[in-house]
Amino acid sequence: MTPRLALFDDAAAIASEAARRIVGAGVKALWERGRFRVGLSGGRTPEGAYRALASPPWLDALDWARVALIFGDERRVPAGHPESNQRLVREALLARLPRPPSAVLAMDGADVDGDRAAKAYEEALRAELCGQGGAEAHLAAQPIDLLLLGMGADGHTASLFPGSTALAETTRWVAAVPPGSAPPPVPRLTLTPPILIQSRAILVLVTGADKARALCRALDERGDERACPIRLVHRCPGEVTFLADRATQGG
Ligand code: 6PG
Repeated sequence: MTPRLALFDDAAAIASEAARRIVGAGVKALWERGRFRVGLSGGRTPEGAYRALASPPWLDALDWARVALIFGDERRVPAGHPESNQRLVREALLARLPRPPSAVLAMDGADVDGDRAAKAYEEALRAELCGQGGAEAHLAAQPIDLLLLGMGADGHTASLFPGSTALAETTRWVAAVPPGSAPPPVPRLTLTPPILIQSRAILVLVTGADKARALCRALDERGDERACPIRLVHRCPGEVTFLADRATQGG
């Protein structure tokens, strides 16, 4: 589906809007399917949204006992490391919730064997999205309901960097990848396009003038995913929305 762009004055406004949309998607998923599967973005941009989600008025809006948190990617560092996405989510969201989510599928960034960690996460993710029965190699019986993504100034998303071989993946849902073109320069674990594009809806949070060019490339009808990986969202049949601040528009 053609992505939509919604502009906001600043990061705080984006954080509030993202929290509002997460709750809206969650209430809908819980009503329709009794469970809400949300994919969390790494990086710093979503921190405000996580804090807003764990604060009034949204704090008690979701039945967290029926929510599953999924990670879009992880840096391969210990869980307590300052660069760990899991650490940021734990501090900004989990520690402030009234009750723990039904499931927190964290990637094992501390495993020295990246392929082993990727396989373990894929098994956990398939159990969450396909049940024990499993499903066809690349199809999720219950896709991620709402996927949050960030975007780097080079157009990467999750840990799918320009030119990455993981961009050509067609069946595996999780890959171990080398350090990319954005800090921190550490190897990573990342969800791959086959599972990302199955999400029922995608929300991309983008702030800062340094991302203005990548945002233009992301939204252009034409372009190459290998050069600008965030363009993979064009393949998602669900609703795709970019929440961006005015700084990305030269504002
Ligand atoms: C990561 C992210 C990555 C991030 C972008 C934007 O683990 O680094 O998943 O894709 O979303 O690099 O990062 P910022 O939000 O920090 O600008």
